[in-house]
Parts: sequence; C-alpha cells; structure tokens
Amino acid sequence: MSGPNNSYDPVQVTPLGEEQVVAMRDAALAAIAGAVDLEALKVVRSDHAGDRSPLGLANREIGALPPQAKKDAGMRIGQARAAVNQAMAARQEVLEAEAEAQMLVTETVDVTLPWDRTPRGARHPITMMSERIADIFVAMGWEVAEGPLVEAEWLNFDALNLGADHPARTMQDTFWTEPAENHVVLRTHTSPVQARTMLTRTPPIYVVCPGRVFRTDEYDATHSPMFHQVEGLVVDEGITMAHLKGSLDHFAQAVFGEGITTRFRPSYFPFTEPSAEVDLICFVCRGTGQNEVGDGSCRTCRGEGWIEWGGCGVVNPRVLVACGVDPERYTGFAFGMGIDRTLMFRHGVDDLRSFFEGDVRFSRAFGTEI
Ligand code: PHE
Repeated sequence: MSGPNNSYDPVQVTPLGEEQVVAMRDAALAAIAGAVDLEALKVVRSDHAGDRSPLGLANREIGALPPQAKKDAGMRIGQARAAVNQAMAARQEVLEAEAEAQMLVTETVDVTLPWDRTPRGARHPITMMSERIADIFVAMGWEVAEGPLVEAEWLNFDALNLGADHPARTMQDTFWTEPAENHVVLRTHTSPVQARTMLTRTPPIYVVCPGRVFRTDEYDATHSPMFHQVEGLVVDEGITMAHLKGSLDHFAQAVFGEGITTRFRPSYFPFTEPSAEVDLICFVCRGTGQNEVGDGSCRTCRGEGWIEWGGCGVVNPRVLVACGVDPERYTGFAFGMGIDRTLMFRHGVDDLRSFFEGDVRFSRAFGTEI
C-alpha cells in the first residue's frame, strides 16, 4: 500500500487554485453588493457563505490535500471567506439601517391628527340629576322605587284621595288612554308610586322615586307635556313633619350646597294633611333678593329671596287606609318636586325645551360623568 501523498499534485488542486477562489470570492462579493434587502441578503449568505456554498465546499476539500498545498489553499480560502464575511456584515449593517429608516417612515404616527373623530356622547343632564338625587337618598339608607308610566286611574288619583269628582283632579290635566272604560292614564305625577309601594311593602318604608310624568300642557319655554318629578315617601312609627323638614333640608344642601335651607308655606294636596309648598332659600342671593352688585333684584329668584321647589306634607291617613297601612300605628311624609325645574334654576336654563331637543352640545355642557 502506498503511504500518504506528500507530493504536490497541481492537477488535483486546480479547483482550489488562486483563480477559482478569486472567482468564488468575487461572485460572493457581487451577490452581497446586489442584495437589495435583508431577505435577499439571507439568501446570498446561504448561497455564498454557507457550508454548501462554493467557498464552503472548497474549504471542506482542504483537508484532503498534501501539507504544502493544504497550507496554500487554506490561506487562500481563509482570506476569501474572511473578505466575504466582512462584506456580508457591512452589507447587513447598511440594510438594517435602511430597514429601520423605512419603518420610521411607514409607521409614523401623526400625533397632531384630531383623535376625536367619533365624538363621545354626553349623558343627559336629567339622567345625571335623577341619579344624583337617588344617590343622596340611598346614602341615607332609602331605596329607589319605580312604577309604570302608564298607570291605573285608581292609583294615580283614587288611592291618593282624589275621588272621581274631586276638584283637585282638574289641577292635573290628564292624558287618558282609550278605551276610556279601562281607566288607564299616563301618570300625572310620581305619587302613584307611593300607593304602589305601600300596597306591596310593609313599613318601615323609605323610598325615593325619580321618573317621567305627563300632563296635557302646551310645549313652551316653561311647560312640557312630559317632564320629570322625584317623589319621596317615608312611612314608619313616630314620623312627623320635623322628619320631613330635616330630610328636605339635607336634600337641598346636597343639591345646592352648604347652608341652603327650606321653608314651608301652607298648601293643599289631597294625599297629604297638613300639606306645604317647599321653597329653597335662593342659592345665589342667599335670601336677600338683591343681585351681586346690589343695584337690582337677583335674577335667579326674581328678587323673592326664595325659589319654589315642590310640594310635601304628612301622608293623609285616608291614603294609608286605602293602601292597607294601619294609621293608628304608622305615620308618614311625602314630597314631590320637578327635576327639570330643579335643573333649570340650578343651571340658569331659561328654556325647558333645551332638555328635550337632543342637542348634544347642550348636554355636554353638563359634563360627561359616566
Ligand atoms: N304629586 C304632587 C304634584 O305633582 C307633589 C306632591 C308629592 C305633593 C308628594 C305632596 C306630596 O304636584
């Protein structure tokens, strides 16, 4: 057997000769220079610098060469591969920088563009006020009660001590539904919720009821055939007019601020006895009736010093009886006021219709509490 081939065989190493290596290197360098993006460079890397590239394969051949040839070819191929790797790294850097610059352009966010193309709506001021009022009473341990808008005549009137011929019925011009013999109305006030509550619960009762009511009023700056009231009802042992006064004073301060008290003026409601109109001390002039500079009358209360707020009284024992509550054991109080009206004088809204026209610019002025 022959020993290791120590002689230089120029035929055998031709593929690893200077010219071929230079050609492989130049082909690689040309391909690198021609790679237009990182993706293309990846392909060039595997074609010209990978294990299966011409230079990679040539590198594998070196081991089989005799020592001197191995040394020469090793150096040639090593230098060629180093040149290719260097060019590859440099091109990589250039292409990465280009890609980043490109990204900055395509992914640019113009922070000066308007962001509120879909404007957020606003909650209706009446909704906010109704919830706020309910919260004031819930915080005192009361519950929120509800009743239907389409109501039985008996609950809207009779149970509340307004008989068929009661003159007070004409105070509330009623929308009747047809056929008339069904005796169904659009509720003219929130007071039928009092009757419903007493009929379905046993005292102690502490409820507040905000809701819509309907009367055949003209639609103008101060009237609307649909408006909103809030009703309060307490039935418990030992309830007096003093509890009513204290509750309303608290209510007034929670809505209008510190020091805003109420006064009662004698009045008449069939469902309360005694009955009173509740006035608020004017939260602008604080009762003086004067405007801020003192040269005329206060615009909010029109110089009165007080603002009419609603009606109230001690629940008429006849109503307790009609609703199945023992008047010997229990007494109660009730009150009712207009929510729209409250908002009007609280915010200086001079046209009631603004509440019902659905212009979000009006609602938005009240804020967008969620
Ligand atoms: N229901 C009465 C109205 O609509 C208001 C009211 C409620 C008065 C409760 C007294 C007690 O005018």
